Amino acid sequence: MKNELRHGRLKFISFLIIDLLCVVLANVLAVRLYLGISSVKYSMEEHLPVIYLMLCVDIIVTAAFNTLREVLRRRKRIEILETFKHVVISFVLLAMVLFTTKSGADYSRVIVFLAYALEFFLMLGCRYIWKKILMRAYWKNNSDSALLMTTDSFATEALSDLRKTGVEVKSIFLLDSKGQKSIEDVPVSGSIEDAIAVLGWDLAKKVYIYGLDHQMIPDALAAACKEMKVKIDLVDFKYKIIDVKTVKNDDSRYGSLSFIEGKRDIPFPIRRVYWITETEADLHRGHHAHKLNCQLLFCPHGKIDIILDDGEKKETVTLDEPGKGLLLMPGLWREMIWQESGSVLCVLASEYYDPDEYIRNYDGFIAYNNEDGRKKDN
Ligand code: TYD
Repeated sequence: MKNELRHGRLKFISFLIIDLLCVVLANVLAVRLYLGISSVKYSMEEHLPVIYLMLCVDIIVTAAFNTLREVLRRRKRIEILETFKHVVISFVLLAMVLFTTKSGADYSRVIVFLAYALEFFLMLGCRYIWKKILMRAYWKNNSDSALLMTTDSFATEALSDLRKTGVEVKSIFLLDSKGQKSIEDVPVSGSIEDAIAVLGWDLAKKVYIYGLDHQMIPDALAAACKEMKVKIDLVDFKYKIIDVKTVKNDDSRYGSLSFIEGKRDIPFPIRRVYWITETEADLHRGHHAHKLNCQLLFCPHGKIDIILDDGEKKETVTLDEPGKGLLLMPGLWREMIWQESGSVLCVLASEYYDPDEYIRNYDGFIAYNNEDGRKKDN
């Protein structure tokens, strides 16, 4: 059962039984209500054929129109629409049956109308409660459960990072999904709707965005989180060394070919590419930080040291091979030192060039980082 729920499939039988009970209950209530407020002589026995008919119609509509499709994954708004559709189709079908059999006059129309109106609210409420019960039964202890959004290249690392902090990842939404069903036994949400459904039914209490810029959070996910009051956390890392995919030919004369795809190998779309050439050894450049710009630095030729400073500690990364990339997130002070003349530095950037987005003063950088930290804390 757990697996079925996990993969979005379910046996509809329990929902169908609940629907049928709602049909009966709606009719009983409708008859009671009607008899309570009117002096017309009409009994439950007289109404029984309508109840049987409505039960048959309900089963036919469920099967023919597949009205319980993905019932567990539907969010509230979709559920209201689907239940409404189900009730309207059932009503039309019943009216057609009564009309063609010329038996409509035998029954109270008011009660039929009333029964369908009640059926709608009962069905909606019962489906909702039943879904909650199913979800709660199968996913207990999920206070630290989360939906992870990242790219394929970061998924394994993100999972291990989150697990270390005690977070249980219930589902992964990959921005560049290639149809994976799961990663390290964690199911992958095939679409943004699936990812939102995971939140909709309380499977995950939080969303972790790993290695992505906040601008890459899909609008639908951001809106759903707002609506459901689910917190989005950007899992921060300041920099990462990544392996740039490289193809080497058996014949060494062919050299090697390296490539990077925006939003796949790096967590941002590439808006700008620049490179620095014709350099002397011991050239120092940089001395700035970015407020927004994410970058991938690589050195296809030569050797360059990149000194990174987050305001608290300094670290040096040496770029000395075409297959080595340095992913830099905003808020890092950097200095580049050319170790060999002629070394080439290439940069893929997430933003268009904007001098206002640079921080070129170190004290300003420290002040900006502290201010940014305060914003995150609040
Ligand atoms: P700068 O960012 O200061 O280089 P570095 O930090 O590596 O020393 O850029 C040098 C000059 O090039 C500066 O006048 C701005 C200009 N420039 C652009 O016009 N567009 C760009 O995309 C970049 C990166 C720089």
